[in-house]
Amino acid sequence: MGFPGTGKIWMNGTLVDWKDATIHIASHVVHYGSGVFEGARCYATPRGSACFRLDAHMRRLQLSAKIYRMEYPLDLAGWQNAVLETIRANHMKSCYIRPVVYRGYESLGVNPFTCPVDAAIMLWEWGAYLGKEALEAGCDVKVATWARMAPNTLPAMAKSTANYANSALIKMEAISEGYSEAIALDVHGNVSEGSGQNIFLVRDGVLVTPPLGSSILGGITRDSIITLARDLDIPVSESIVPREALYTADEVFFAGTAAEVTPVRSIDKITIGIGRRGPVTEALQHRFFDVINGRVPDTHGWLTYVYPEESALRSQAQAAAGVRS
Ligand SMILES: Cc1ncc(COP(=O)(O)O)c(C=O)c1O
Repeated sequence: MGFPGTGKIWMNGTLVDWKDATIHIASHVVHYGSGVFEGARCYATPRGSACFRLDAHMRRLQLSAKIYRMEYPLDLAGWQNAVLETIRANHMKSCYIRPVVYRGYESLGVNPFTCPVDAAIMLWEWGAYLGKEALEAGCDVKVATWARMAPNTLPAMAKSTANYANSALIKMEAISEGYSEAIALDVHGNVSEGSGQNIFLVRDGVLVTPPLGSSILGGITRDSIITLARDLDIPVSESIVPREALYTADEVFFAGTAAEVTPVRSIDKITIGIGRRGPVTEALQHRFFDVINGRVPDTHGWLTYVYPEESALRSQAQAAAGVRS
């Protein structure tokens, strides 16, 4: 997927043309991976464009920055406004949202404190991450030979650019062996997550997902799926998952902003359950897509409308016409 190379990018509060959104090669982040970032999505809904859980994403960005002792002069509302302003400036109905906070240009050395903390927000169109067919048919994956970061090495809870060196090793191994994705274990040999998404298993009607202590990123989609499962009276267990539980699960699926909810149909060439999207995955996937696309009432307050006045007018019109929003 190449970028079209047009539109505006937010850099330290200024909207600049895509081609001008550059940083110096001597920027600290280029050499030492000293950046944290987010990945959120904006969807086209019947009430207009809406960002899914923008507050939670920007809060996680702030917390990732805090772990790395980076201070940026924007509060939570300021971050959300900056994202909304960037979407409006690009006239996008739906998009993937990528804010990044990083150590910029001043001097080079492991010590990042000498370098400024800079930030940017870019947007692009990004469809189904593991392919549209996979949303129903499922994807074929392997267990990676690379483990996720050990506790107290690189903090898994921080969405830092450095962590994605590990993700890239996992993803490259999968692709070079003909799989679309891989599942990584933690250093204890228990299931952790995919290269860029959390993992869920269904066994005897119970939804199981590894806990934060299994070197996972605390996914916002993961949290949303747990909430939706409880809404649907599906029991949920956040517990350590041994590798073999993957092969014996009735259903397995990935959850993440990019992957959304994507079923897994085989792992290491062992068929999972019925070998395609199972019923619990389907129920949760439908519910998730209904919520993000604004097709059901937003009971959890997860949608932030890009044009609130327009969405209020549309919702009044829909109410008058007797349409649920
Ligand atoms: C390593 C990793 N785990 C999990 C996730 C899922 O997180 P979220 O649902 O917040 O996108 C992501 C995506 O950002 C990720 O990169």
